[in-house]
Amino acid sequence: MQTERGQWSSKIGFIFAAAGSAIGLGNIWRFPYVVGENGGAAFVLLYIFFVIVIGLPYMFAELALGRSSQRNPVGAIDAIKPGSTWKWAGYLGVLTGVGILSFYGVIAGWTVGYIYKMAVGNPGGFNEYISDPWLIILLFAFFIALTALIVHGGVEGGIERWSKILMPVLLILLISLIIYSNTLEGSGKGLAFYLKPDFSKITGKTILAALGQAFFSMSLGMGLMITYGSYLSKKENIISGAIYIGMFDTLIAIMAGLIIFPALFAMGESPEAGPKLVFVIFPKLFAQMPGGLIVGAFFFILLSVAALTSTISLLEVPVAFMVDEKKANRKRIVWIVAALTFIIGIPSALSQGASDFFTNFGLIPARLTSPDFLSQMSFVFGDFSLAFGAFILSIFIGWVWGANKASDEIQTGAPGFSKIRPLWIFMIRFFIPAVVFIILLNLFGVFD
Ligand code: PFF
Repeated sequence: MQTERGQWSSKIGFIFAAAGSAIGLGNIWRFPYVVGENGGAAFVLLYIFFVIVIGLPYMFAELALGRSSQRNPVGAIDAIKPGSTWKWAGYLGVLTGVGILSFYGVIAGWTVGYIYKMAVGNPGGFNEYISDPWLIILLFAFFIALTALIVHGGVEGGIERWSKILMPVLLILLISLIIYSNTLEGSGKGLAFYLKPDFSKITGKTILAALGQAFFSMSLGMGLMITYGSYLSKKENIISGAIYIGMFDTLIAIMAGLIIFPALFAMGESPEAGPKLVFVIFPKLFAQMPGGLIVGAFFFILLSVAALTSTISLLEVPVAFMVDEKKANRKRIVWIVAALTFIIGIPSALSQGASDFFTNFGLIPARLTSPDFLSQMSFVFGDFSLAFGAFILSIFIGWVWGANKASDEIQTGAPGFSKIRPLWIFMIRFFIPAVVFIILLNLFGVFD
């Protein structure tokens, strides 16, 4: 037991914490609106395909690197290739953690605000709400502080305990909402949009969106699974762990869609509403449901908790880096990184109508994402940087560390891996980097 760094107290504790990182706003807020914007069922299939052929095998690799080195992303790379430029992939991961947290915390703040709105029975207008600068910044600050408070408590006491209690409750609530939503009149059309594929809807942009969403949702590409893998003992089975995490994560996303799309079509709304989609549909659903306001308040509490287990993990990556590599004091550095992230997040908080400048920021071309600062951050850190990070890290693990050494690490605790070992080696060395590379090129319009 490495007491200074902390370790998961049990396998189930690790799975809950890693699944807690994976399951979050990405599943319930981002997945439905990305599906809506990208035409529905065909996108969903593409997404599941990427989860299985890229997300899972790549997750094995990150976990193996973390467990083998017992370090954060930068330290892990440095342990294998001391002093090399590969370390920059680790720095990119650390930066990406801060970048994602800076806009993710804003959305998490919106979620907390909705707990109150539901409880008092007056959701009000969404656009007025998110363009109220002080309120949104205050909620954002609250959420970042809450995250820091838990990370301050350490790996086991803080992160693990919370995830174990609250994730199962979320699952039960989602199941009840699926049943309710699908009994609404006109919901069948929504189900068809969500489940009957129209492959003409697939374009280059959709493909990147599906891959980006798979990385984002499974918390891959920035070394989070390296960091969480570093707290994992050699006895644990990386393969089964990753499969559980991937399955839970995909399940929750699919379930969110099973609530949103039937409800949305029943209400005659458009699936292409973008980031505001779930914040508009869910309150409407609760408003017409018997006892809906209580259920609604409860729903937003659980969504906030799901977001919290993800923000905890986002903060954990830069914190682990500073503690391992810069010998920072854990308790102090948590608050410093949190404060910095808060400052970086302010433009995102103001970009939904409060400030014209940040609302129409538009540095990234419109064919890729919306002009507001939050969407721009989400594209740069939530899509591009994760895919790029995964590209570099898969090459590093497959070629520099070496697919054989990585395989040995995976196999420790997972003897059954020997059967798929050659296939996995092919995936990590060739398939994953090639597919991600092509998709990235496409992003720059190379194939237009
Ligand atoms: N996977 C989280 C979600 O779907 O909400 C977001 C996230 C957390 C992305 C941690 C990346 C990460 F490292």
